[in-house]
Amino acid sequence: MCGIVGYAGRERCVEVLMEGLKHLEYRGYDSAGLALQIGGEIETIRRVGPLRELSKAIGEANGRFERVGTGIGHTRWATHGRPSEENAHPHLGGDKKVAVVHNGIIENHAELREELEERGFSFNSETDTEVIAHLLAERVEEGDTLREALGAALERLEGSFAVAAVSAKEPGTIVAARNQSPLVVGLGDGENFLASAVQALLGETRKFILVENGEIAVLTSSSVEIFGPDGKEVRREPFGVEWDAEAVELGGYEDYMLKEIHEQPAALQATLAGRLGAEGDVDLSEVDLDLSNVERIVIVACGTAYHAGLLGKNTIERLARIPVEVAIASEYRYSDPIGDEKTLVIAISQSGETTDTLAAIETAHGFGGHVLAITNTRGSLITREADSVLLTKAGPEICVASTKAFLTQVAVLDLLALELARLKKSLLEDELQEIGKSLRLAPEKIQEAIALSEVCMEGAVDVFEDARCALFLGRGVAHPVALEGALKLKEISYLPAEGYPAGEMKHGPIALIDESCPVVAILGEGVLREKTLSNIQETVARGAKIIAVADEGDAEARKIAEVVLPVPKVPEILASLVATVPLQLLAYHVAKERGLDVDKPRNLAKSVTVE
Ligand code: M6R
Repeated sequence: MCGIVGYAGRERCVEVLMEGLKHLEYRGYDSAGLALQIGGEIETIRRVGPLRELSKAIGEANGRFERVGTGIGHTRWATHGRPSEENAHPHLGGDKKVAVVHNGIIENHAELREELEERGFSFNSETDTEVIAHLLAERVEEGDTLREALGAALERLEGSFAVAAVSAKEPGTIVAARNQSPLVVGLGDGENFLASAVQALLGETRKFILVENGEIAVLTSSSVEIFGPDGKEVRREPFGVEWDAEAVELGGYEDYMLKEIHEQPAALQATLAGRLGAEGDVDLSEVDLDLSNVERIVIVACGTAYHAGLLGKNTIERLARIPVEVAIASEYRYSDPIGDEKTLVIAISQSGETTDTLAAIETAHGFGGHVLAITNTRGSLITREADSVLLTKAGPEICVASTKAFLTQVAVLDLLALELARLKKSLLEDELQEIGKSLRLAPEKIQEAIALSEVCMEGAVDVFEDARCALFLGRGVAHPVALEGALKLKEISYLPAEGYPAGEMKHGPIALIDESCPVVAILGEGVLREKTLSNIQETVARGAKIIAVADEGDAEARKIAEVVLPVPKVPEILASLVATVPLQLLAYHVAKERGLDVDKPRNLAKSVTVE
């Protein structure tokens, strides 16, 4: 987690760094800080809390930071040391002539700290990062350039990191390097940029260069040089990014979460375009793997992406009749999993940076499995680790709570299920095309679902007024939807919420039920709807207040529930997608009612790059 930015160029460094940090705040918001080259010295300014605190402090500095040309910035998600000003980045090394920002974890920091203390360095923070600052300062003091010092430090550092540094001795220069954590260089005219993710720099440039593991980037206003671990210069073609700056702005919405929920129809449209023809035929020729001999599938992911995986299992097994296991990535990597070269491992990650998911990929490669990544982030780490990639085209997702990424992940899994079914001949071509045609309706049905939910939200939020917890119940595909609804609610409203298979509730969770534990019932269609209704009756008998997600014309749902969140009638392939929308909006409105920051919930970060 954490976000880093760097700028070398004109006298507008603070403006560029602050704008960049604003777009990286999703990575952590425990504290923020800048290190700036001013008059042959390094000056830092750091504040605890969200970026606005730093912004306020800069505003109160009477123009002190107005005409700065070079600097680095950081927004923190605390790992080593609580959120405090001492622990906020940038950290200064030695005699304060070198400053460092860092994203990731230095695993051998304790050992390095001990060594450095023995050599007379004193530490001002509890962070692992400060060892880097002192390692650099030591070499710079001995006469090394900052690049040489970083090269030497890289040989000592273990763990995952992206690091950027400036030195008072080298005005106008930033050096940076990475191992496992992301880092991109943005190319400008008379100015150059550095960031953890392209989102930070979209207002400045669309031309980027990726820094690979072990490389060192050296930036000035007029040059960008990349050096390999052998010290030789590396030539790398820049790549372009199609996202535009507006995609990372609020565009009139109060929060990114609401904006991203409303962007779901367009996100689905973009994800299906070119992959699903008018006749319902699927084209996944972009997948660079032979899918015809897949005998078994394992889906690995975390959080919301894991819930998408559960839905993917349902669709792939139903359509293609291939057995699918879905594993939480952080468990999978340590589970000594069974697999071989006929196992297709599908790794799902919006950010493409999640450490646990990347580690699960490594595990899969260990037994010869072929890995297909589903990610929203072009150029992310997962795209380089996987054997093939399917991009979701949701556009940048800024809110920590994932919404549009989830729906597009499910849509991509649906496409994959159709393609596998075609290859396995488990269904007739006509049947597959019919399902494909239904899937094409996703954007418009989601649009309808948003419109339908919004009018009933007030009543649903009222049910939560005195709630102390909530149960989300569903069966079949409605079960992963319930899990996702519960996750959304708990992460942004801090209400304990459980997603449960409705039929399993009587084996334990029913004990939670009373009038302060609302039940959100996702009814679905067919036989499972009947069964779910019976399960819900059991909670009503114990005083539960029910919010039902049900077909707009479902009279029985209206009888049993305090509030119905209606969803449009849809073909089976779209059932989980439309049922998710009211739950996203419910979580959003409950959290807003409680006065909470929905985009930046406490303790969380968007990209989880620690184990
Ligand atoms: O970037 P990823 O898809 O790998 O992220 C996985 C989870 O960290 C993420 O889905 C998380 O659970 C979200 N905050 C849920 O809204």
